[in-house]
Amino acid sequence: MKITVLTIFPEMYEGFLHTSIISRIIDRGLAQIKIVNIRDYSLDKHHHVDDTPYGGGAGMLMKVDVLHRALLDNISNDYTYTVLTSPKARPLKQDDLIRFSKMDELVIVCGHYEGIDHRFERYVDEKVSIGDYVLTGGELPSMVLIDGILRLLDEGISADSLKEESFNEGLLEYPQYTRPVEYNGDRVPDVLQNGNHKEIRRYNLKMALKETLLNRPDLLDNHEYTQEERELLGEIVSELP
Ligand code: ADE
Repeated sequence: MKITVLTIFPEMYEGFLHTSIISRIIDRGLAQIKIVNIRDYSLDKHHHVDDTPYGGGAGMLMKVDVLHRALLDNISNDYTYTVLTSPKARPLKQDDLIRFSKMDELVIVCGHYEGIDHRFERYVDEKVSIGDYVLTGGELPSMVLIDGILRLLDEGISADSLKEESFNEGLLEYPQYTRPVEYNGDRVPDVLQNGNHKEIRRYNLKMALKETLLNRPDLLDNHEYTQEERELLGEIVSELP
């Protein structure tokens, strides 16, 4: 998969693309990431990418002509999918990352905090927000997108953890533990040490349900419970203080 990022801060991607799992995925040829400086598409001699808003108001807006030129120059075919980072969109979900990870080519345009000329929006397929809060620019959101997508392309990670994610479908992850078996009087649950895989699976499912109930009860509103989950939920509720 190829991902192109259009940004006015290309230097922000240096550490990100050369670190840890992300660089490993790129080195293995599973993804190709191209960072493009939007400024290179400005035609004036000072390479301006923004200008003052019509009608007044604070701040500067990114110029539609510069953005559009940058976008057109980085779309290679009819299947290139284009997204604009913006707080003015539905917040990203894991399903969106799965959808993006199946695309051959994605172009991410990083918007900027004071805004962009509204007319640019018609040239992208979709706007993507990473949450209901406002950041200074789209660079961190674009890295969130890339990180979440590349992780899904990594067979090494995905074989096991994707299986777990589908086991946990719609629920938060169950708690996990590693050595030492006891820390400050807090012990790893016995059931996880007994090697009985059936019991461990049921326990983990119960804990996933409990985590979700306590931390994100909204996720359970539309959850389609299995018979086993219904039983476990009953146990959880009866055990609550
Ligand atoms: N730009 C500024 N805030 C943002 C957000 N929450 N998501 C995506 N892009 C943004």
